[in-house]
Amino acid sequence: MTKITKAVFPVAGMGTRFLPATKASPKEMMPIVDKPLIQYAVEEAIAAGITEMIFITGRNKRAIEDHFDKAYELETELQARGRTETLEVLRGILPKNVSCIYIRQSEALGLGHAVLCARPAVGDAPFAVLLADDLLIGRPPIMRQMTDVYERHRCSILAVQNVEPAETGSYGIVRCEGGADGLYPIAGIVEKPRPEHAPSTLGVVGRYVLTPRIFDHLERVTPGAGGEIQLTDGIASLLQEDQALAYEFSGTRYDCGTKIGYLKATIALALGHPEVGREFSEYLDTFERCGSLA
Ligand code: G1P
Repeated sequence: MTKITKAVFPVAGMGTRFLPATKASPKEMMPIVDKPLIQYAVEEAIAAGITEMIFITGRNKRAIEDHFDKAYELETELQARGRTETLEVLRGILPKNVSCIYIRQSEALGLGHAVLCARPAVGDAPFAVLLADDLLIGRPPIMRQMTDVYERHRCSILAVQNVEPAETGSYGIVRCEGGADGLYPIAGIVEKPRPEHAPSTLGVVGRYVLTPRIFDHLERVTPGAGGEIQLTDGIASLLQEDQALAYEFSGTRYDCGTKIGYLKATIALALGHPEVGREFSEYLDTFERCGSLA
């Protein structure tokens, strides 16, 4: 039985929506409270039993490699000061059985191209793709839900959620036929259709389990929406020979690729944070009463 052990993280994007914050540091390193977005995604993969993390990086992304590497100076310093708890937090970022591979995508040719760059590292096994912009919170964690579905159905699985009809232009939108209980066979998929052309309002969010056959299709895909090699177009082509399922996950999605989504995630996770949650909640109460910053 082939288990999913590899995850691909396309992290070469420029993050223009968050400039100037992302001028010199990667958008995936923006923190939600005290952890960078990419760490939430990696933790979600680890919770699904994935042990090989494949990052498709680009220029200005060195901070991601440093984040998942050992920080000798910092660790020595923390040890000398007896800061064992903080030291454990640092050491816990990446469990010992988990390894990282970094592949450079030298040109930003699109998400499909980024996934194709992972081919030499993925080989002939099914794999996960996680877009760190989409922060997904659920129990069990969403990728775990998806690998469980994969183990039952053995085909590509796309996480979807209902989006506002006016917002179809921001998503890959699926057309499903049949299915039940949050799991629907995909009959078609289109990247960022205008509302009047959208086949449904089921939008793909940034979690995929893909069979390795996707690579042959991505090799053949020509530039689509926005002039980019789209993963969605590769999946549309894959559907001609293979089944794929849309999975309506149970949990909450924060679109941290937008300022408002990022702020919502920050508030939600800060309120649930063991160290600052209670105080932050009290602060928000005061804030509401005063109607402005205290
Ligand atoms: C990408 C995909 C799109 C998907 C979205 C989810 O778009 O191309 O199909 O729905 O991620 O976040 P992006 O948001 O990178 O433009």
